[in-house]
Amino acid sequence: MGKVLVCYFSRADENYSVGKVEVGNTEIFAKNIIEKLKADGREVDEFKIVPVVPYPEGYDDCVAKATEERTMQERPEYQGDVNLDDYSTIFFGYPIWWGDMPMIIYNFLEKHTFNGQNLYPFCTHEGSGESGTFTTVGNLAVGAMRQEGLAIEGKLARQDGGKKQAEYFADQAAI
Ligand SMILES: Cc1cc2nc3c(=O)[nH]c(=O)nc-3n(C[C@H](O)[C@H](O)[C@H](O)COP(=O)(O)O)c2cc1C
Repeated sequence: MGKVLVCYFSRADENYSVGKVEVGNTEIFAKNIIEKLKADGREVDEFKIVPVVPYPEGYDDCVAKATEERTMQERPEYQGDVNLDDYSTIFFGYPIWWGDMPMIIYNFLEKHTFNGQNLYPFCTHEGSGESGTFTTVGNLAVGAMRQEGLAIEGKLARQDGGKKQAEYFADQAAI
């Protein structure tokens, strides 16, 4: 069995429906996937997509920034990078912003080439569901084998039920 990468973007601070948090919803879900894979003896690496310019702490300010990025079709830079060739399976997570992926996710996917990896997208949201983004991920990740994704409400990702869903999702990658 090959090495697994859990790659995600997630924002802490003030957010919709969960208030001010130290760790974002998507990150909690990603960490639960990692924990399960490790418990199952898989070799796992983590890559957190961290913006070079942090998003504002306040929810409304972040919404304004995200709106601007989307309108201008920006590609925000992130810190460091990861070589996807090292992995046979990739879990790829993000929050839904404006019924779509954050622009930093577009930047990451456009910068990388995939080489036959099994790609499992996941997202957290507060009602919009995956909003067609799993198809977008598949379209941008040319060369990857896009598998079924998982969408979960952000506040649920923080609860026991969310942990169970992360464990179930991690089990999908038994390859
Ligand atoms: C800028 C911004 C835009 C958002 N747009 C949506 C949306 O269109 N639909 C939705 O269901 N949730 C939306 N949300 C809520 C987030 O998707 C949700 O809180 C998610 O779990 C946040 O994940 P994170 O804590 O990992 O960043 C938005 C949040 C932010 C900050």
